[in-house]
Amino acid sequence: MSRPTVVLVPCWGSGHFMSALEAGKRLLDSGGGAFSLTVLLMHSPTQIKASEVEGHVRREAASGLDIRFLQLPAVEHPTGCVDPVEFESRYAQLHAPHVKSAIAGLQRVAAVVVDFFLTTLFDAAHELAVPAYVYFPSPAAFLALMLSLPELREDLTRAGFVEETEATVDVPGLPPVPARYTPACLVRAVQSYDWFEYHGRRFMEARGVIVNTSAELEASVLAALPAAAPPVHAIGPVIWFSESEEDKQRPPAHECVRWLDAQPAASVVFICFGSMGFLDAAQVREVAVGLQRSGHRFLWVLRGPPHAGSRFPTDAEQLEELLPEGFMAATAGKGMVWPAWAPQKEILSHAAVGGFVTHCGWNSVLESLWFGVPMLPWPLYGEQHLNAFELVAGVGVAVVALGADRKEKKGSFVEAVELERAVRSLMGGGSSEEGTKAREKAAEMRAACRKAVDEGGSSRAALQRLVREILESPANPMDGTTEY
Ligand SMILES: *[C@@H]1O[C@H](CO)[C@@H](O)[C@H](O)[C@H]1NC(C)=O
Repeated sequence: MSRPTVVLVPCWGSGHFMSALEAGKRLLDSGGGAFSLTVLLMHSPTQIKASEVEGHVRREAASGLDIRFLQLPAVEHPTGCVDPVEFESRYAQLHAPHVKSAIAGLQRVAAVVVDFFLTTLFDAAHELAVPAYVYFPSPAAFLALMLSLPELREDLTRAGFVEETEATVDVPGLPPVPARYTPACLVRAVQSYDWFEYHGRRFMEARGVIVNTSAELEASVLAALPAAAPPVHAIGPVIWFSESEEDKQRPPAHECVRWLDAQPAASVVFICFGSMGFLDAAQVREVAVGLQRSGHRFLWVLRGPPHAGSRFPTDAEQLEELLPEGFMAATAGKGMVWPAWAPQKEILSHAAVGGFVTHCGWNSVLESLWFGVPMLPWPLYGEQHLNAFELVAGVGVAVVALGADRKEKKGSFVEAVELERAVRSLMGGGSSEEGTKAREKAAEMRAACRKAVDEGGSSRAALQRLVREILESPANPMDGTTEY
């Protein structure tokens, strides 16, 4: 009799894809050979994303792990979608019959794990009586919010809600969340809200929700999840350096790292908005002036706006053009502007880095905590505003967020003087109580995160419980009498 398999259905975008695949690999590893992993691949709707994912798949397929990749047939693209969440949800929905026949064609499927925008695929799992799980790559606080969306609809969909100064949102386990920290992805359009609410409702049908967080990091939120919600498995975070990154760590080190080697301990503020974040020319000028006035050392990963047809910011070839006149000369030796991809994990792990100005994408947050670096949040999109609030008011590892004022269509624009003040607060050492507290708390979280995934830690135990549950699943008798 063949071994059972766990079916993973990731989203096609490179970031989500890798995060879900990582969760699958952790399950596989924890299963110790008791089951294999089968990954169902949807065609990426865009050429750019397709080539990224193909690269990942090739590398993983050659890795020798017990993972099988199955390509699902192509489907039409849904039309008339107002935003990416609606597109992703409906595009996934069109795959339902193919997912069903793929699962039906496999022997002994122990569980199906779907990415969090793919809950339309639950029906296929239910019809085949296979237990379904959700993989949730964002913090548990956003999960808690998604589960509350039916009750919050009236408030959150009210025009101008995010600009109301007195209004708050109730997220179980967090202090009252000021309206301006409402995630941007929820207030883009009512249709976006509808889909987030839809997925939140369907999470309730899952056998469990796997979240990339740890019990120590989000204790109050995890404790306050509704009793009727499915069990939440906090299995994160595990930060590893991939082989290609390890290569990059071998000498010669990356230029940014070599520059950091020459700086004093905890003296440099690191500024980076993730692989897709970029600033427009006016904002670049404000950042430059603010950094210079703060007097602190900095490493600034500066990306210009993307070329037409590309999702990624271009390398800012014209640095001199983007930056104020004389900036490079005035900050020489104290600051480094790096206009291309930079090894974020390696930088955050460097002793010279004392603070991180971040858009608060959850991956960046987890990496920062893993290395104990306090943060200055500057949320831009997705659920990042809520993440920023949680880091400041809930976890306490960050100083007050920049760019969260949503009034007067200011968006996330930040003036030089605001940045200067915030960087001083983050990096100010003994003279800044806020910064000192964030630093101490970040050091605490560094230890807690590492302990969580270590032998006997909370995340390790959660993963083992999850694996046991999957193997003991009633839909998957181990006596061999029932096979699909
Ligand atoms: C969790 O987040 C970390 C940090 O970005 C990432 O390296 C990891 O792949 C994610 N997924 C899992 C399952 O740990």
